[in-house]
Amino acid sequence: MIPPKPPARPDRASLWRYMRLFRRDILSAQPAKLYRAWMAEFRTPFFRSYLVNQPELVKTVLKDRPADFPKSDRIGEGLRPLLGNSVFLTNGATWERQRRIIDPAFEGGRLRDTFPAMLAAAEACVARLATKTGHPLEIEAETSHVAADVIFRTLFSVPIEHETAAQVFARFRDYQRSSPILNLAAFVPLPRWFPRLHRRATLRAARDIRRLITDLTAARQDQIAAGTAPDDLATKIMTTRDPETGACFDTQEMVDQVAIFFLAGHETSASALAWALYLVATHPDWQETLAQEARALDTPDFAALGQLRRARDTFREALRLYPPVPMMVRETTCPEGFRDRTLPKGAQVVLSPWHLHRHTRLWDNPDGFDPTRWQTENGRTCLRDAFFPFSAGARVCPGAGFAMVEGPLLLSMILRHFRITATGAPPVPIAHLTVRARDGIHLVLTPRDQASP
Ligand code: HEM
Repeated sequence: MIPPKPPARPDRASLWRYMRLFRRDILSAQPAKLYRAWMAEFRTPFFRSYLVNQPELVKTVLKDRPADFPKSDRIGEGLRPLLGNSVFLTNGATWERQRRIIDPAFEGGRLRDTFPAMLAAAEACVARLATKTGHPLEIEAETSHVAADVIFRTLFSVPIEHETAAQVFARFRDYQRSSPILNLAAFVPLPRWFPRLHRRATLRAARDIRRLITDLTAARQDQIAAGTAPDDLATKIMTTRDPETGACFDTQEMVDQVAIFFLAGHETSASALAWALYLVATHPDWQETLAQEARALDTPDFAALGQLRRARDTFREALRLYPPVPMMVRETTCPEGFRDRTLPKGAQVVLSPWHLHRHTRLWDNPDGFDPTRWQTENGRTCLRDAFFPFSAGARVCPGAGFAMVEGPLLLSMILRHFRITATGAPPVPIAHLTVRARDGIHLVLTPRDQASP
């Protein structure tokens, strides 16, 4: 069974039709030829953007010369009220300084330290799901809940039930419902003079979230000063000095970073886990294989993770078919010769994990679900050249290692306890803030100890 793929639009479409489709969903607004093209140009009376879909060119933009292709200011427009001056939006020297302080918190050794908090969130998730078995369940709501719980427990050592955490989570949902489509501005850059209209509800939700995060951060600052702070990611980041300037983040700048950790760290993981669960629900034989493997968690410690190889391959396959961040945008700072075209200065360069991950000239069985591909030569080559769900190069997601521990762990914990089947119509992938299912993903969970063998 081929996993759901959004319908493509006809190759030729008028600008206005494209815009209309685009407003609804950027994935189904694209023509099918992008799955086999190396590069494509979108030319409109107002702007030009270029989809770069060839591994060598993606490498040039992300790895070889990232400073020449910064993030455009316009991308952050929908997010700035919430994220302020966070590492996700900055460029140049400010971005470099922020990464010098953040990156050590996510290094390999620290992942081992965050494992108990992740496991506690996974156990709480299993307990919650145990009360919801036997009838259809919208799984994205559940995966958002557990991913938010993971972030709060690892960052601030508090579970999602903590009053402030619960409020941030709730207000965040309001923010998402009311905020404009994230990447729209990238494809349709508004002229600089155009008034930036954020809806009042969006601004109010962003203000509330920031106030709540400021309370958490200020309280942590006091605990650090008193020597009573827990040893978690927030303490690590707030006590790390920039090796070049010796300065730490002040409270304001830390609030900006916490906002992006929360946003980037829970929406994305929640999306990938929901799709992974759908994929195993529709591939029952493979699901049984994973459930067997999950026995490694009889003694759940960091070392057991090494044995979850198939869960890891499965999570990776979910990231390939449904990359939570389907497209990224950069801007040229000088004219660039890409293939047979010259990109003018200020052109939008679109990088699309969504298309490269299903490129018909690169992947064997590009639209099929095959977690064993990663052990084949084609899979290994594509893993290196055509797979970038976490981006790549200097601006690679700092949470990539974290997410690759969290995802397989949660997947295994859930499959260890429940047998899963899909119900209702197949989900239709569309791009919101991340790749989601248009009408949710509906699954039925049955406790394994009650299920027939
Ligand atoms: C499956 C899970 C995840 C996926 C697929 C993912 C994907 C990405 C991608 C594609 C980017 C680059 C975006 C761009 O360049 O426009 C990014 C950046 C970022 N991610 Fe993640 N991410 C995940 C989990 C996390 C987690 C768990 C955290 C933190 C706890 C995190 C924190 C960040 C931050 C801070 C950035 C900005 C980095 C920068 O611009 O220098 N992410 N992520």
